[in-house]
Amino acid sequence: MTKETMNKVPDIIIAIDGYSATGKSTLAKLIAKEFGFTYLDSGAMYRAVTLFAMEQGFVPKGEGKIDEKALQDALDKGFDISFGEGNKAFTGDRCIESEIRSMEVSSHVSPVAALPFVRAFVDDKLHAWGRRGRVVMDGRDIGTAVFPEAQLKLFVTASDEVRAQRRYDELLSKGQETPMADVMANLKERDYIDSHRETNPLRQAADAFVLDNSDMNLHEELVWVKGLVMGLFRIYEGV
Ligand code: CDP
Repeated sequence: MTKETMNKVPDIIIAIDGYSATGKSTLAKLIAKEFGFTYLDSGAMYRAVTLFAMEQGFVPKGEGKIDEKALQDALDKGFDISFGEGNKAFTGDRCIESEIRSMEVSSHVSPVAALPFVRAFVDDKLHAWGRRGRVVMDGRDIGTAVFPEAQLKLFVTASDEVRAQRRYDELLSKGQETPMADVMANLKERDYIDSHRETNPLRQAADAFVLDNSDMNLHEELVWVKGLVMGLFRIYEGV
């Protein structure tokens, strides 16, 4: 997209929701780069809170209940999350990007993210960042609950096999060899918890455009999104 065309894209919020490992964040980063928008990864925030809760001992290693009171008190006192170069997650000056993507965090994140006070904590930060506009944000409830007024909403899906393979490859590329069956089980478990929790469950917004990217490459996805943006805002390239 030329700079001139890019400048014609108004100060909108683009909300991208969908199931685990559908490639939402990869697409969101690409859109952000293409339009000169800021990318916000809400999943990284839930993952960061989960890592913190695990390290503080509020989340038991095996089975057992989350110490909700202790976690809430700790969040009330303040927990610092920020994003640095390349969208890497930080708490204070400690980079936690690779730890929050581990299978251990993945296996605890959905029950933590189902807690209403955790959602309120994350939503506050998302609202503060999103208010500036020119933002693309991905998650589970962005178009339905966090920014229902978002001007463009996408709901991304892909087959279970494609999603599991993508996540398996991603973990492997980081040196985390994980049995495929464990990867698949984790995705399904999170999908279930995320779509059945009481507070702001994963849902397709009524006004979202659905993108099934099972058989698409990233370039094709971006062309599809650009077409939508240009059509919605009557922006014509090369005219
Ligand atoms: O990358 P992946 O699709 O595996 O997940 P993620 O976007 O990093 O999100 C991790 C987890 O955070 C999800 O499984 C949800 O439990 C939670 N989450 C949420 O509840 N609401 C959001 N807006 C984003 C993530």
